[in-house]
Amino acid sequence: METDHRAASLKYWEDSHRAQSYDRSSIRTDDWLERFEDIIKQTDKAVLDLGCGGGNDTLYLLSKGKQVIPCDMSETAIANIKKNFPEVGETHCFNMLDGFPFEDGTFDLIIADLCLHYFTEKETADILQEIKRILLPGGHLIFRVNSVNDKNHGAGDGTEIEHHVYETKAGTLKRFFDEEDIRRIFGDFEIEFLNEEIMSRYKLEKRLFRVCVRKQ
Ligand SMILES: C[S@@+](CC[C@H](N)C(=O)[O-])C[C@H]1O[C@@H](n2cnc3c(N)ncnc32)[C@H](O)[C@@H]1O
Repeated sequence: METDHRAASLKYWEDSHRAQSYDRSSIRTDDWLERFEDIIKQTDKAVLDLGCGGGNDTLYLLSKGKQVIPCDMSETAIANIKKNFPEVGETHCFNMLDGFPFEDGTFDLIIADLCLHYFTEKETADILQEIKRILLPGGHLIFRVNSVNDKNHGAGDGTEIEHHVYETKAGTLKRFFDEEDIRRIFGDFEIEFLNEEIMSRYKLEKRLFRVCVRKQ
């Protein structure tokens, strides 16, 4: 029987968010968005935080005086966000595979931190079409994704079901990008910044790509 990756992923993330206590004081930010301070400063619209999880980037953006709309498919993650960030007025709980509940051209900045690497290439392309649709021309998508060199966090583990996409033991999908993947998959956007680097927010170092793209 074929694995239901979508159901496995929802279960994985609900379990994971339930298992962690997200008190506001325990939420850790890192400085990855500092590089894009000018872009963040410029917008007077709400910033969309896709796959917000515990709210690391929501916290950072709020500290910069931004209005933020955190989104996640996990009801538990969204409940935690509402508890920890009462100043956030709007949140959305939806699966990115179902399309995005926003009008065309709503945003000029979207953050997607470590949440765009769970999909096949076709699914990723569909999600990017939606991101493009809800961005204004000239708007930015700033994101981080797993690198093929992220050995501490499962790069190359599991069954490869598509180039660089692996089915894990839990039945979830995980993609690991190389630079060529990013240039191909995000080819509809203008790539303004692309860098492979190490993130030290987790117990074990994580290798990822930090990327900023612009809708032309
Ligand atoms: C690795 S966590 C990243 C959380 C946060 N952005 C951060 O950097 O700490 C990935 C998040 O993406 C969410 N997610 C995964 N697949 C999703 C989907 N198909 N639609 C919406 N959210 C999804 C998960 O629930 C989880 O909260």
